[in-house]
Amino acid sequence: MSALPQGFLIRPARTEDIPAVAALEAEVFPDPWPQHLYLQEVGQPLRFQRVVHTDLGYLAAYLFACWQLDELHVLKVATHPLYEGRGLGSTLMDEAKSEGERSGARGLVLEVRPSNRRAFRLYRYLGYDVLGRRPRYYADGEDALVMCLALVAPAGS
Ligand SMILES: CC(C)(COP(=O)(O)OP(=O)(O)OC[C@H]1O[C@@H](n2cnc3c(N)ncnc32)[C@H](O)[C@@H]1OP(=O)(O)O)[C@@H](O)C(=O)NCCC(=O)NCCS
Repeated sequence: MSALPQGFLIRPARTEDIPAVAALEAEVFPDPWPQHLYLQEVGQPLRFQRVVHTDLGYLAAYLFACWQLDELHVLKVATHPLYEGRGLGSTLMDEAKSEGERSGARGLVLEVRPSNRRAFRLYRYLGYDVLGRRPRYYADGEDALVMCLALVAPAGS
């Protein structure tokens, strides 16, 4: 499991984080969620939400996920361009996996654009497999690849 690099802190997302989350979202996604969607999500039940800050208090990365039956669905994961390639994305994904394991999830699932090679490489590196494709899933018409990480059920279950 990846450890958070030195100089960064991880904790559950709170309402006061949302303006910075929405600003980073708008910077890194072609089809960003608006701030009000994040405000609706934060703190809801059946969610797993983490933010990473620098030790000076700047938002460096975040992950938002929700439970769908016995699967944890990773809705959003992003790292500020200044901090990419330092393991923040893998750490957040590992945290989501640990949450899935703790809660007895069958697996984790997410969608990714085939053109998003960096994210795709990250998910493949973490052991995710491509389950299928959702045609024209994104607003600009690009398909989504559906990727899944199966979790091993605890012995005796
Ligand atoms: C995708 C994203 C979240 C990755 O975040 P990150 O903090 O840079 O992630 P990490 O540093 O943990 O890992 C990313 C890179 O390391 C690779 N990886 C991580 N750990 C690795 C290891 N130990 N060995 C080999 N490769 C590794 C990944 O494949 C990727 O490789 P690249 O450098 O060749 O591109 C980030 O680039 C981002 O926010 N992109 C814009 C938003 C986005 O696309 N989100 C995902 C939507 S599905």
